[in-house]
Amino acid sequence: MALRGRRVVLGVAGGIAAYKAVELCRRLVDAGAWVSPVLTEDATRFIGALTFSALASEPARTSLFGGPEPIPHTRLGQSADLVIVAPATAKLLGKYAAGISDDLLSATLLATRAPVLVAPAMHTEMWEHAAVQENLATLRRRGVHVVDPESGRLAGGDVGEGRLADPSRIVAAAEALLSRGRDLAGVRVLVTAGGTREAIDPVRFVGNRSSGKMGYAVAEVASGRGAVVTLVSTQSRPVSESINVVAVESAEDMHREVLARFGDVDVVVMAAAVADFRPKVIAGEKLKKREGVPEVVLEPTPDILGALGESKGAQLLVGFAAETERLREHAADKLARKHLDLIVANDVSAADAGFEVDTNRAVLLDSSGAVEETPLLSKVALAGVILDQVAARLGLPPEGHP
Ligand code: PMT
Repeated sequence: MALRGRRVVLGVAGGIAAYKAVELCRRLVDAGAWVSPVLTEDATRFIGALTFSALASEPARTSLFGGPEPIPHTRLGQSADLVIVAPATAKLLGKYAAGISDDLLSATLLATRAPVLVAPAMHTEMWEHAAVQENLATLRRRGVHVVDPESGRLAGGDVGEGRLADPSRIVAAAEALLSRGRDLAGVRVLVTAGGTREAIDPVRFVGNRSSGKMGYAVAEVASGRGAVVTLVSTQSRPVSESINVVAVESAEDMHREVLARFGDVDVVVMAAAVADFRPKVIAGEKLKKREGVPEVVLEPTPDILGALGESKGAQLLVGFAAETERLREHAADKLARKHLDLIVANDVSAADAGFEVDTNRAVLLDSSGAVEETPLLSKVALAGVILDQVAARLGLPPEGHP
């Protein structure tokens, strides 16, 4: 149902399983999708473009050049609701992971912001090769969805893992992906992002390394899934127009702005790194070096999540825990102490997770004791995992909030 009226680019790479993409194309069309087939040159050695042209919603494309459109990859990429690549060969996955765009399909993959679903198919030895698995891990980390291959008969009479997933599984994955696209429609989500700055004097502050990337990822993904998003942030990063940004600087500012909106939201996700302490006294003028080393006395800041936890009604409260040791233990303590529904614990001592980087790895603990551990993911992909849990806890039907 979710495929009805949606624009799907069906990429077909050059493998023996290309013939099964014909059946996939037919099923996508039957499900109501507008299907634009794109075949690589290698794919045309296995299956004719004419076959796809006859079954799809528009003629199959096979080249960046020579067609009626001057820049077909950007048009296809920008207008797509979903890009599916089936079969995705080792070569195609390698090019996509490396960002190489030397034909229409690889260029379209780089030119799209739509979700991408790849269905790999290749011989078992190739499928198990470290290069292929690492490329897939890279793509998964960037948020690409994968329908894993099945075991069975392969080309040349071999048997093993690497057979293209059945077209019905690929269609089901596409349906699920597009359904999820709007599952937060109408849900009011408040997200915080960035590190607070606690003034010492008019030019100096106590701060931390938070870039806001994690919070912005949650805000963008929630908005993309239909939520009405308010982002209370200390950072100024590019953001979709649909997101209402409230700029703040200190923990006090964030406390004020979040509490003022708490009654009007359904979900709060506190990804901000809020300072626990601030200078007790803020000097009115810039402190002078010649007057010696100042003594900065600190006092606690307001605990924003703690305050929300105390006063919450039906809202869902999601906190983060930035830890450098005993991750689960400290996170479980914060979950209970701040009356949260869910906490996302990240190890901020890791070089590839936590502050500033584009990736993160988390353990999600909820108030019922359930635990979900993620691998290293892009912050966008982790935002998706967090929002899946939010949607499930809100009891939202797959196709949207009533
Ligand atoms: O911004 P990035 O560079 O992308 O980095 C992401 C991140 C590491 C900042 C993010 O993933 C993260 O861990 N955010 C929470 C940081 C933090 O302040 O953790 P904490 O364990 O100190 O606090 C626990 C929770 O209480 C957090 O949700 C925090 O927002 C909240 N808190 C903390 C102090 C305070 N005074 N008020 C609060 O509400």
